[in-house]
Amino acid sequence: LEELGVSRDLAGRRVLVTAGPTVEPIDPVRYISNHSSGKTGYAIARAAARRGADVTLVSGPTALAAPEGVRTVHVKTACDMLAAAEEAFPAADVAVFSAAVADMRPKEPAARKLKKGEPGADLGTIELVENPDILASLGAAKRDGQVVVGFAAETENVVANARKKLATKRADLIVGNLVGEGRAFGTDDNEVWFVTADDVDELPLMSKERLADAILDRAVQFFG
Ligand code: CTP
Ligand code: CA
Repeated sequence: LEELGVSRDLAGRRVLVTAGPTVEPIDPVRYISNHSSGKTGYAIARAAARRGADVTLVSGPTALAAPEGVRTVHVKTACDMLAAAEEAFPAADVAVFSAAVADMRPKEPAARKLKKGEPGADLGTIELVENPDILASLGAAKRDGQVVVGFAAETENVVANARKKLATKRADLIVGNLVGEGRAFGTDDNEVWFVTADDVDELPLMSKERLADAILDRAVQFFG
């Protein structure tokens, strides 16, 4: 494989990847979610497996096929994603939090479909509560030698916001990118910044496949 140009630099390493959106039920037929396609996270999981890692992919609902040779755990809500990520994190050498976790969820999902005009069913108001921050919660539990990678999806001030997220979530690397106006979500390529404690790198526009390898290249540098 080396001869074919496939690096096995993650052989013997465990990699955790979160990917896709989460969906937060309003009632049995409706939900709150976002436009994440899961493409970047799935590309990272595939690339890590190709490079020899033992990979756990914790994925919200996407239209993508579960990557071959990867342990894929399917979840729906942020709370379920947190539980699955917490289980895999302690053994992970590298954890990449690429999921677009819904920031809020309906406080009390209705057990029955909400109906127009029914007494007590106010379709104009949904009470929301904030979801747990999976990256921040596991970043706080990070032990020596673990490499934690997060993303920052921003509509402006990418680098400044990425720096804040690096610090508050205790990540080693934040991949900052611009979202909105046809950028990033669902597209096949992406323009990003790598923000670490010591420097900021603006990467050229590249496919999500190449970006996946670039992120892993940067992550393995932390192993020294
Ligand atoms: N993240 C997470 N759990 C959440 C929210 C975010 O694990 N509940 C992770 C994402 O996977 C990403 C990073 O945190 O790696 C940043 O996500 P982002 O949505 O950009 O930042 P937030 O902290 O949610 O802040 P905001 O959306 O308000 O900018
Ligand atoms: Ca968010």
